[in-house]
Amino acid sequence: MDSEIERMQGLWSTAEALMVEGKGILAADESTGTIGRRFEPIGVENTEENRRAYRELLFTTEGFESYVSGVILFDETIRQGTKDGTSFVEVLQRRGVIPGIKVDAGAEPLAGASDETVTEGLDGLRERLAEYRDLGARFTKWRAVLHIGDDRPTGYAVDVNAHALARYAALAQEAGLVPIVEPEVLMDGDHDIDQCFDATEATLREVFYQLAQQGVDLEGMVLKPNMVVSGSEASDRAGPETVAEMTLTCFLQTVPAAVPGIAFLSGGQSDEEATLNLDAINRLAGDVGAPWRLTFSFGRALQSAPQQAWRGQPANVERAQQAFLERARTTAEASSGAYQP
Ligand code: 13P
Repeated sequence: MDSEIERMQGLWSTAEALMVEGKGILAADESTGTIGRRFEPIGVENTEENRRAYRELLFTTEGFESYVSGVILFDETIRQGTKDGTSFVEVLQRRGVIPGIKVDAGAEPLAGASDETVTEGLDGLRERLAEYRDLGARFTKWRAVLHIGDDRPTGYAVDVNAHALARYAALAQEAGLVPIVEPEVLMDGDHDIDQCFDATEATLREVFYQLAQQGVDLEGMVLKPNMVVSGSEASDRAGPETVAEMTLTCFLQTVPAAVPGIAFLSGGQSDEEATLNLDAINRLAGDVGAPWRLTFSFGRALQSAPQQAWRGQPANVERAQQAFLERARTTAEASSGAYQP
């Protein structure tokens, strides 16, 4: 078979497997700094061994593969394994969970802009992608960050971030890796849901323009956006029905039907809020003819509960695994519009 055809079919089947009905993605790709911010409130020292032990707890949770199709790893984590020496990649593969990898190098201040960022990490990316594929990764993630407030996001910030996302996505597909394209409009601030709608709409329009310009195959990617929500400090925050309506309206205007799936980030919403919103989106999706699978790629909304239960104590591992399994199960229900609070 033609190797180009094989590569494309590989991308399509990985994207389809990630977006399978009833499951979603676990984002466990916190950088060393970010996981430190998660460990601090639970009194866990940010050492390599603690990070390894924590990820072992998650990935060896019995049965989580019923609710999770893929896990996004961090560079350090994809090279680690369980205490008994099995690589995490193998632990996941044995459960039928697809290993993925975060490949961006983080958001840095954008030159000439005030309080806006551009995500870096394109230099040397082709070589890094080849290495990650050899290590067993089958999909990748790149996160762009947009801020709302004081005339932000500017067109400048949206353009450069969308351009970089598309450059990354094209390189990932060239390497046979499904790109998760993550333009996150932050919910920080006291803005109302209409401002989030406008910023998300403008961002997604530019992202899909750049993806087309740079020849990215839409069937071989996954979109990881924010939901359209009120700012976290807004006085009157919109409820799940409004969030669902605004989110689907925004995406129907901007996201082509060729994209197999949309996997939302939780973005700092509480566990319950993220679950209720995902559930409401899926309950409405059929009525409005949404053509994509609508699921989760949560970090915090899947991991806060197990982190609270664990607190770095080996004696708490089992309880933490139960908490993780419970969050995975209820979030997966919400991804089918079948969550019962
Ligand atoms: P949250 O669900 O905590 O927003 O994390 C998702 C993610 O991967 C952010 O890049």
